[in-house]
Amino acid sequence: MKTKILFSDKKSIKKAALIIKKGGLVAFPTETVYGLGANALNPEAVAKVFEAKKRPHFDPLIVHIADKKFVKKLCRRVNKKAEILIAKFWPGPLTLIFPKSEIVPDIVTAGLKTVAVRMPAHQIALDLIKEAGVPIAAPSANLFGKLSPTEASHVFKQLKDKIEAIIDGGKCPIGIESTVVDVFSRTPKVLRPGGLPIEEIKKALGGIKLEVKTRSRKIYSPGQLKSHYQPLTPLKIIRKKKFKPPLNIKAGLLAFKKPKNKKFYHHIEVLSPSGNLREAAANFFSALHRLDKAHLDVIYAEKIPEKGLGVAIMDRLYKAESLS
Ligand code: TXA
Ligand code: MG
Repeated sequence: MKTKILFSDKKSIKKAALIIKKGGLVAFPTETVYGLGANALNPEAVAKVFEAKKRPHFDPLIVHIADKKFVKKLCRRVNKKAEILIAKFWPGPLTLIFPKSEIVPDIVTAGLKTVAVRMPAHQIALDLIKEAGVPIAAPSANLFGKLSPTEASHVFKQLKDKIEAIIDGGKCPIGIESTVVDVFSRTPKVLRPGGLPIEEIKKALGGIKLEVKTRSRKIYSPGQLKSHYQPLTPLKIIRKKKFKPPLNIKAGLLAFKKPKNKKFYHHIEVLSPSGNLREAAANFFSALHRLDKAHLDVIYAEKIPEKGLGVAIMDRLYKAESLS
């Protein structure tokens, strides 16, 4: 199949929505990363998502909605904490886990009794969901374990000819996946740090305790698997203060701010010259995609302060590193 590139005009959104309605796959931009969408209520369409991504096992998907009212259809129960977070952060980069209702097919939730739901803050995503008239199940639009896409070209490179269409909506403004939170367990849990800083969630819930499950051994959420988000080039996090790469290799650098010893590196990407975490998150995956294309032996990555969006960036970096 030849993958069509569509834009965000009305006609294109209509075309994309028709593909979804007919059980096909469309990649579309959200404020976090590009998603690979299918009709969430059609199990066969959802199965195609796993096939296109080459996921070796079924992993639960996030169901995207364009209207908060849809939560009641997808979920058996909504509690007070969920209500607070929905009111404050939707549309936005926050995914909530709910007890699922009958209408959600098992393949969407990988057999779990819970479903992940999010309302994205991106006009194209919202228009597409509304026009399709169904909730859209969408993982990030990359091949399994590979770098997440924050531009249409990243999607095209990984999934061309495997999906019907890609809506090109430019760069994703946040650039890092949504924060996944479970507010139904006794102590609310952050299952994946992401585009909404954990501090803000805590504050909205009145400063109550939040368990952060990011680097625990037990896997609560399949997205916590190590070796996710991997570039093809080996990546190493710099842990020494006065680090220099070996001279006999072609090294690249993923720098947080303006780097000091530029001369040791063949290719440098700076996430945010002024050290702004939001800017760094927005540039993170694009910078890694560029480093990955630069024919390097190793990508060295500087550590980022683990506060605000820095928590989500470092989570991705640790996973990018683990198998290399
Ligand atoms: O920003 C995002 O979240 C992007 C855009 C496209 O919305 N989507 C995304 O999807 O990152 P994906 O499939 O790459 O990651 C979904 C995460 C995974 O970590 C998955 O394990 C978790 O959500 N998840 C989904 N359903 C779950 C459930 N019922 N219980 C626990 N975790 C769940
Ligand atoms: Mg993903």
